[in-house]
Amino acid sequence: MKLNLNQLKEIDENGYIILPDWFSNEEVNNLCKEMKIVFNEKTEANVVEKSSGEVRTAMGLHLRSKIFDDLTRHPKFFEPACQIRGNNLYIQQTKINVKAAFTGEVWQWHYDFATHSGEDGVPKPLALNLHVFLDEVTEFNGPLFFIPKSHKYGSAPSKLDTVTTSYPLWTVDQQTVKKLVKENGIVSARGKAGTAVIFVDNLVHGSAQNMSPMDRAIFSAILNPCKNAQTKFSRPDYKHGRDFKPIDASSNDSLK
Ligand code: SIN
Ligand code: MN
Repeated sequence: MKLNLNQLKEIDENGYIILPDWFSNEEVNNLCKEMKIVFNEKTEANVVEKSSGEVRTAMGLHLRSKIFDDLTRHPKFFEPACQIRGNNLYIQQTKINVKAAFTGEVWQWHYDFATHSGEDGVPKPLALNLHVFLDEVTEFNGPLFFIPKSHKYGSAPSKLDTVTTSYPLWTVDQQTVKKLVKENGIVSARGKAGTAVIFVDNLVHGSAQNMSPMDRAIFSAILNPCKNAQTKFSRPDYKHGRDFKPIDASSNDSLK
């Protein structure tokens, strides 16, 4: 499923795009069934929240599950990614980030390239983060906040935070966020289950805790041009895939 010229322009200008109704209810239901299975697996690739012990992020899903591998290569994801970054892409990372009802914790302000360069030695901010909502995401259950156009400023200064949440993250300081928001505002990425979102590697974003009674699960695939592959290998393969061959679009479009 290809993006039109206006949509491509929107990503270039704002650093993200929200695509309502990109996946069907049936596709989302199939993905949710499999989500329950992978969440119950005892593996270090399932990272839990400090306070509640609930799964916060289940990683390496294309390595663990056929349907999530198919989803990552699905034309609805893969074709837009190729339009934006060219055909030779590898799967850098796949995961589901859940913000469980009542207990889901914050993701501090950050941009993904700070981690990709700092931890993995990825040379340039060319990776794309592709999301599909597995629950409806509203203002109440911890939507992602984006600072539009923040990717245009180059990579903001960032610092590794290993303390405030259960997942170590290279975060952006408050002064920088204040300046970026003053100039560009903040948007929240909301929509029904099945909505897709695409955003670029140095777009500043974060999300607040989920104090609502509704879970919020989002699948995320990070695809990176093969010529921009990682040069440092300290993180496990569920955080940064080691297969740098260009991926093919899945021939299995049905997501069963
Ligand atoms: C992320 O930025 O990778 C996670 C944000 C979220 O799931 O809310
Ligand atoms: Mn992020």
